Amino acid sequence: MRAGELAWDLPLDEQHRLCDADRFSKGDGSMSAAQGTALDMDKLNAFIGQFVTDLGASVHTGMVVIGEKLGLYKALNAGPMTSRQLAAKTQTDERYLREWLSSQAAGGYITYHAETDTFSLSPEQSFALADEGSPAYLPGAFELALGSLAAVPRIAEAFRSGSGMGWHEHADGVFHGCEKFFRPGYAANLVSSWIPALTDVQAKLERGARVADVGCGKGASTLLMAKAFPKSRFYGFDYHDQSIEAAQEAAKHEGLADRVTFSVAKAKEFTGKDYDFVAVFDCLHDMGDPVGAAEHVRRSLAPDGTWMIVEPFANDQLKDNLNPVGRVYYSFSTLLCTPCSRSQEVGLCLGAQAGEEKIREVVRSAGFTRFRRATQTPFNIVYEARP
Ligand SMILES: C[S@@+](CC[C@H](N)C(=O)[O-])C[C@H]1O[C@@H](n2cnc3c(N)ncnc32)[C@H](O)[C@@H]1O
Repeated sequence: MRAGELAWDLPLDEQHRLCDADRFSKGDGSMSAAQGTALDMDKLNAFIGQFVTDLGASVHTGMVVIGEKLGLYKALNAGPMTSRQLAAKTQTDERYLREWLSSQAAGGYITYHAETDTFSLSPEQSFALADEGSPAYLPGAFELALGSLAAVPRIAEAFRSGSGMGWHEHADGVFHGCEKFFRPGYAANLVSSWIPALTDVQAKLERGARVADVGCGKGASTLLMAKAFPKSRFYGFDYHDQSIEAAQEAAKHEGLADRVTFSVAKAKEFTGKDYDFVAVFDCLHDMGDPVGAAEHVRRSLAPDGTWMIVEPFANDQLKDNLNPVGRVYYSFSTLLCTPCSRSQEVGLCLGAQAGEEKIREVVRSAGFTRFRRATQTPFNIVYEARP
């Protein structure tokens, strides 16, 4: 076989090798980069292999959003079925569905059984894609990614102008996807391990405490805490009115509206005093003036109160964040967090990979005397700050 002829029955990496040879050959079989330096073909092939994976993942984002929106994963959860059977069950067009199923099977998100020409979900695929109660429910992440990417033209322009883009200016998928993606992690960790890792907080919440959840978005964290601690009173605040309206609806829907109040307020302006516990989930770094917000939290706390700061997992040094989790966070930070902070007063732009030292600096500057890392997961660090 000559370079340039792709054999579709060859493994993908072999196809890459042949394809690369054609693209970069000078005609005499040798390879060189534009700058005239010799190319290491193994490294080039590895990089192009990564590119194919990444390109597939990029378009796969839309596939997962479609799958969730149309209930395809949940319908497939019933057992192996053909594309025709799944189309009948979900009232979708069989031809579109077959193409979607094929993309999912190629990406390892569903399982194909060639002998029966049927598709199914393995227990693990089902856990992550069809069970909304699972701590590893993933589709929200793709909805968040798709929503964030809609801002690319404006963010590219912001690279030149330096202007910001507020959270409220993004596509709806950002708000819905964020809540859907974060809620399972909070459900798995917040009540069972994050709150118990704080000094004295759990006992106070069990006895009955005043709690503020600042930057609460659609209120997933607030409602989870309210359900777990029925004697406590909860106040959720966010500057984004649409998110607060959704949170109010959710509180009513879950029968918690008598103990949970959601209000539109900026982190430097939320109302109430003598809170026993104030929490911020994945939003301190989004704020333009996190030090101003921290000062306001300190003034709003009871003298022996606690501030819990949940931030994305990050090390202090860039070199230590250059991994798949860091890549996810730095990318979301470029599209969402940094522009959000830039759009507000001060515009400190901590970024989603701030790391402990920068968070400690914010907390100390605001007058808190105690600060520690209480616990962590692969995706989050939980800090405790006390006046
Ligand atoms: C990444 S979302 C996290 C939402 C929610 N805490 C969660 O974990 O699901 C960031 C939130 O911070 C809010 N936010 C950003 N700046 C704010 C500010 N200065 N005051 C109050 N909320 C703010 C946004 O509106 C958004 O809801």
